[in-house]
Amino acid sequence: MTTKNKVLNLLNQNPGKVFSGQAIADHLQISRTAIWKAVQSLKEEGFAIQSLPNAGYLLSSHVDLLHADTIKSQLREEVAVFVHPFLGSTNAEAKRMLSEGERNDVLVLADEQTAGRGRLGRSFFSPAKSGLYMSLGLVKLAPQMDPTLLTTMAAVAVCRAIEQLTERNPQIKWVNDLYIDGKKICGILTEGIINLETQTIDSIVLGIGLNVQLEPVSMPEELKEKMGALFVAEEPTITRNQLAISIVNEFYLLYSQLDKNEYLEEYRSRCFVLGKQVNFTRNKEYLEGMATAIDDKGALVVRLQDGTETTLSYGEISIGWTEGAAK
Ligand code: BTN
Repeated sequence: MTTKNKVLNLLNQNPGKVFSGQAIADHLQISRTAIWKAVQSLKEEGFAIQSLPNAGYLLSSHVDLLHADTIKSQLREEVAVFVHPFLGSTNAEAKRMLSEGERNDVLVLADEQTAGRGRLGRSFFSPAKSGLYMSLGLVKLAPQMDPTLLTTMAAVAVCRAIEQLTERNPQIKWVNDLYIDGKKICGILTEGIINLETQTIDSIVLGIGLNVQLEPVSMPEELKEKMGALFVAEEPTITRNQLAISIVNEFYLLYSQLDKNEYLEEYRSRCFVLGKQVNFTRNKEYLEGMATAIDDKGALVVRLQDGTETTLSYGEISIGWTEGAAK
């Protein structure tokens, strides 16, 4: 790791704390001159490091630049991390890397997405510096891996990370949307890469889009009512690097216990659709019913109006029953 990255890591892990040049030099076993040069170079790159006379260096806690080494150095698993100022879509980039033969898990992040993808062919609004847009590409898939389970696992991981780092308590709308105060703050898009020879899913990309701070003025009119963010009326108290680290670490923790499926209990308790009237469209047919359970594969069990039960493994539901007016 370069001196610059070592200095940045130290400051990043202690936002708001002042370090003297000597303290950094001692900690990293590097000369003070090298530290000074590294700090100048980081400032030129846009990191808001303040040099306080007779005190030392301080990385402002309000500065939220994504940084690959900071993330990578705090992940519990071996993952290759790539940060881009902008991309069309982090999912597309992760899929490209995996289909071109990448053999390690990858984490791709972008400050901004110009063609962010949502589920069901929709786009995902991804303005610069407002959200965490990242895709985790998983190559060493567990044999019993199921895409729906991975999605539910990612949803629980994001909830846990948010609760560890903030005072917010998100809830899950089956299958993959996170809500706070009735507004969507996060969506997850899971995409598989099929091995054409074996016709099996070779690798999976989990794309997570989390609105950290949204500027309502710049948001498209049709999204204003539905979309929320982690921090609405205040400055974020955490960085996107911290969020990314915590989400990925929580995800791997759950992923390593895949066979236990205990996390599904947590998923159920966080899911606000159970016991609610829901509607959805299947094979062009509009259906209404009561969401009664989430089974051990993460699928939603719905008791239809005619009393029969049906199970949804994927797709989207809306809350409410009034045809055409349902949210
Ligand atoms: C949805 O709510 O419909 C899912 C949204 C998923 C958005 C994320 S942002 C990072 C990753 N890259 C994409 O293009 N989409 C996912």
